[in-house]
Amino acid sequence: MSFIDKKFAETFGQSPDIIAAAPGRVNLIGEHIDYSDGFVLPFAISDRTYAAVRVRDDRKVRIASVQRRNKIVEHNLDAIKPGLKGEWERYPLGVIWAMGPTSGIDIMIDGHVPLGAGLSSSAALECSVATALNHLFSFGYSLEELARLTQKAENEYVGVPCGIMDQSVSLMAHAGSALLLDCRDLSTKNIAFDVASSGLELLIIDTQAHHSLTDGGYAERRASCESAVAKLAVKSLRELDLAQLEQSQNLLTNTEFIRARHAVTEMARVMDAVQVLEAKNFVALGQLLNQSHASLRDDYTVSCPELNVAVEASLTAGALGARMVGGGFGGSAIALIHAAHTQATIAVIEKAFAENKFKAPRFFTSLPSQGAQVIQRG
Ligand code: GLA
Repeated sequence: MSFIDKKFAETFGQSPDIIAAAPGRVNLIGEHIDYSDGFVLPFAISDRTYAAVRVRDDRKVRIASVQRRNKIVEHNLDAIKPGLKGEWERYPLGVIWAMGPTSGIDIMIDGHVPLGAGLSSSAALECSVATALNHLFSFGYSLEELARLTQKAENEYVGVPCGIMDQSVSLMAHAGSALLLDCRDLSTKNIAFDVASSGLELLIIDTQAHHSLTDGGYAERRASCESAVAKLAVKSLRELDLAQLEQSQNLLTNTEFIRARHAVTEMARVMDAVQVLEAKNFVALGQLLNQSHASLRDDYTVSCPELNVAVEASLTAGALGARMVGGGFGGSAIALIHAAHTQATIAVIEKAFAENKFKAPRFFTSLPSQGAQVIQRG
């Protein structure tokens, strides 16, 4: 009996019908462009969230989590709709609302994606539940449809205006590859991402700085892109290159222009990253990571002192490149480093954080891992 099986039985008095798991993610490059119809290049990390689910023969929905001491939150299926107050359970409830199971369910969650680290623990939670429900109720949704449903849950039920990247990669990723995702139509291509055979490692630095997409900064960036799109009379920023944007600069406010400049240059960097990865040119990849960070810091202004120090200290320690990842305003940075320098790099970053009187950072590494899966059927 697996750990979550045991917790399910202890809490709900029976065995689950199904257990599904879904991973968190890091984004190699392509930041803050999923909602502008861009290409992004994330990969799934090995940390996953597990959802064990059992169908009930009434309309009750009961949810508990190992991380919340198995405390049960209970609702009636028919009363689950946006606006219902709650805490972490709003994520699974949002998925239930978006998917509409035909009967009540018991759900036990065991989350292993670090919280608040910008590694998409929320997408992992949503996608583990969605994968379990899709199989349990034989909905037959494709991965693209599940990505849209889980995004809808987060946008409309939880109230976070996120794009489609995190849910897509949590559902669609393949071990050993980064996922080139076209956010316009959700088509994908697996791009081999093997830094280890070149003696390199991707270090994930969790700054432990505050990270919340509900604070307004994220929505404000999206709104700037949308007003730029309206003024430039294009469907999305995907339709422009830098030269075209510069020609139309006079139509935009300065804020709209620099936000749009981040988007169009970042879209170009993703395509360049795919090329340099295919050529195993990691020096060039490092430079693209640095350019991405500078653009997020200076044009998109979603970085923060902790992320900048993490990036600068990594480069001081000899990293090939480094950048903030995810929504920003805290969370994690990544650094492409020589594997032999891992401990020395960590020491330099820790020292820089201590000198700046920041909370001590946490460090992770992860190989590109498999997306959501059903791991057990009862
Ligand atoms: C968050 C959102 C994503 C994406 C990133 C920035 O992780 O959930 O949709 O916009 O920020 O790239």
